[in-house]
Amino acid sequence: MKILVTGGAGYIGSHTLIELYKAGHEAVVIDNLCNSSSESLRRVGLITGAKIPFFKVDIRDSKGLDGVFDTHPDFDCCIHFAGLKAVGESVSKPLEYYENNINGTLVLLDSMRRHGVKNIIFSSSATVYGNPAVIPITEKCPKGECTNPYGQTKSMLEQVLTDLQKSDPEWNVVLLRYFNPIGAHESGMIGENPNGIPNNLMPYITQVAVGKRKELGVFGKDYDTPDGTGVRDYIHVVDLARGHVCALKAITGKCGLAIYNLGTGHGYSVLDIVNTFQRVNGVTVPYSIKPRRPGDIATCYSDPAKAYRELGWKAQFGIEEMCRDSWNWQKKNPNGFEGE
Ligand code: NAD
Ligand code: UD1
Repeated sequence: MKILVTGGAGYIGSHTLIELYKAGHEAVVIDNLCNSSSESLRRVGLITGAKIPFFKVDIRDSKGLDGVFDTHPDFDCCIHFAGLKAVGESVSKPLEYYENNINGTLVLLDSMRRHGVKNIIFSSSATVYGNPAVIPITEKCPKGECTNPYGQTKSMLEQVLTDLQKSDPEWNVVLLRYFNPIGAHESGMIGENPNGIPNNLMPYITQVAVGKRKELGVFGKDYDTPDGTGVRDYIHVVDLARGHVCALKAITGKCGLAIYNLGTGHGYSVLDIVNTFQRVNGVTVPYSIKPRRPGDIATCYSDPAKAYRELGWKAQFGIEEMCRDSWNWQKKNPNGFEGE
C-alpha cells in the first residue's frame, strides 16, 4: 500500500516508516519539523535503503496538503502522527495545542476527503481512559476525564473521527491507543529526542545515565502498587510501529471504525524500570523520591487481546530489550540528532 505518514520525522513515525518498508509498503512523509529533524529521515533512508519522499508541510496548511495530494494522487491510507504531545506544555499553552492538534487534524481530514482518501490510522493514547475504571484496560472500558489539554485533544479527535465515519461509511478509521512507548531501533540510529527537560520517564533515565542530568526524581512512593511507585505498560517502539502495519489489515478489511489498545499487557513500576535499566546496561541511575506529580494515576496497563485476535499483532519485546535499546540510542547519540 502507499501510505501518507504525517509526523513521520518524529519518534514513533520514523520507526513506523522502517516497519512499513520492511512489510513491502511505500510511504510519503509530511512534517513541519517543529519537534523533529530531517536527520531522522536521512537515517531511516540509510536503514531502509529507500528514498522516501518528504514534504516540509504543516498539516494546518490546506494548500500545502493539496500540493502533496496532487503530486501523489494514489494514497491508500494516512497514518496520522503529527501533533504536539508535551503534557506540561499543553497546560500552559492550551490554545496552541488545540489549534495545532484539533485544527490541524480537521484541515488534514478535509483535504483527505477532497482527494478521495478515506482511510486513516490515528495516534491516540491510553490517556483517553483517564483514571481507568478497570485494570487491565480493554477497549470497552469507558473513556475518562483527561487531566490536561493534550489528553483532551486525543479524546476530542477520537470523537471527530468517530462522527466522520458515522456520517460517511466509506471512511475506515482505526484509533490506536498507545500505552507507554520507549526503546529505539536496534541500530541505535534513531530514537526519542525530546526538547529540553524530558517529561517522560525513560528519556529522563537515559539522560541521567549519560551524565546530562544529576538524578532522577521518582514521583511518589505512596501509591497503592507493589512498591509504591506508579505502574505503567511500557511498549517497545518497534512493536508499536509494527502495530501500525498490522492495523492496515483492518483498513483493507473495511473495518469502519475500529479501536485497539497497543500495549504489552504487563505493568512495571518506576523502580522496576530503574533497576532493570541499571542491571541490563551496567550503568548507575541515581534517584531520589519526590512528591507525586499532579495528574498522575497509580496504575495503567492494557489488555491487548483484541489487537491479537483481530490483527494478529502482539508485542514481541520485553522490558530488558526496551531498556537496552533506549540506552543504545542515548549513548550513541548523547545530543540526539544534533550531533556531538
Ligand atoms: P514526536 O513529537 O516525536 O512526533 C510528532 C511529529 O509531528 C514531529 O515530527 C512534529 O514535528 C510533527 N508535527 C507536529 N505538529 C505538526 C503540524 N502541525 N504539521 C506537521 N507536522 C507536525 O511525537 P511521537 O512520540 O512520535 O508521537 C507521535 C504521535 O503519537 C503524536 O500524535 C502523539 O501525541 C502520539 N502519542 C505519543 C505517545 C508517546 O509517548 N510518544 C503516546 C501516545 C500517543
Ligand atoms: C504521560 C502522559 C500521557 C502521555 C504519555 C506518553 C501525564 C499525566 N500523562 O504518561 O498523557 O500519553 O506520557 O507521552 O503526564 N515518572 C517519574 N519521574 C520522571 C518521569 C516520570 O517518576 O521524571 C513516573 C511517573 O510518575 C509515572 C511513570 O514514571 O508513574 C511514567 O511517566 P511518563 O513516562 O511521564 O508517562 P505517563 O505519566 O504514563
